[in-house]
Amino acid sequence: MLKSQLTSQVALITGATRGIGLALARALSAQGCNLVITGRDESALRRVSRELASRKAPVLAQFCDVRDPESVDDFFRAVRRQFNRLDVLINNAGVAHTNMTIDNVPWPVWREVIETNLTGMFLVTQAALTLMKRGGTIVNNLSISANRVFAGLAAYNASKHGALGFTNTLREELRGKGIRVIGLLPGATDTAIWNTLWPQAPRKKMMSAATVADAVVSAILLPADTTVENLEILPTTGTL
Ligand SMILES: NC(=O)c1ccc[n+]([C@@H]2O[C@H](COP(=O)([O-])OP(=O)(O)OC[C@H]3O[C@@H](n4cnc5c(N)ncnc54)[C@H](OP(=O)(O)O)[C@@H]3O)[C@@H](O)[C@H]2O)c1
Repeated sequence: MLKSQLTSQVALITGATRGIGLALARALSAQGCNLVITGRDESALRRVSRELASRKAPVLAQFCDVRDPESVDDFFRAVRRQFNRLDVLINNAGVAHTNMTIDNVPWPVWREVIETNLTGMFLVTQAALTLMKRGGTIVNNLSISANRVFAGLAAYNASKHGALGFTNTLREELRGKGIRVIGLLPGATDTAIWNTLWPQAPRKKMMSAATVADAVVSAILLPADTTVENLEILPTTGTL
């Protein structure tokens, strides 16, 4: 097998215990990346870590709640101890909420969604930038909800619109430093997030998380002088 240009590079994926994050971890592991994975479910982290470790590249699997600055600091201390470099950052951790109109959104739901999907992306990115150099890549998992809206999903739509603004700003700030910033805008993908969003959603019309992950890896593998600024990937049938 040809050696991938990602072999021995360090890739960090937030929310890698299941869904798109786990598929990304598997795909980057297949490229020979050393992995750093996070989530809050410690037993899921141990299970994923065992699976990925069998592929031989080092894996650091550690609890991190991306909403909490102290948790992010502790986590990055561990990243510094084990690798002290970061080549690929994937801000993937995210939550949704059940479908409800704005007059019914409870404040704790609003806060959880904004803190996870928007503030978490800021906190992790800020910490990661201290370890990233020219040639690195940041992928922010947004959603098609970053540039269009779905009624009943105000907190989710707002968090993803905000995260798109953050991503676009980050790209401009990092252009001169040679760090690429990719906004990932997937349509419906068959993961557990739909148990919250819309449990009866037609799963057969969705993409697989592995397909989304393969598209992201293809974008990361482009030559360093080329980038995909926004990767909008949808089922051929469109939105649900
Ligand atoms: N599935 C889709 O159709 C779709 C479409 C567009 C965009 N997206 C985006 O894709 C990303 C991944 O979603 P998914 O569909 O793969 O959902 P998922 O299967 O529910 O996975 C979400 C991941 O995020 C982690 N997470 C949630 N809150 C966290 C926190 N506070 N700190 C750290 N990790 C946290 C979860 O782990 P723990 O629970 O262990 O913390 C889990 O690993 C999200 O940003 C989502 O908005 C999904």
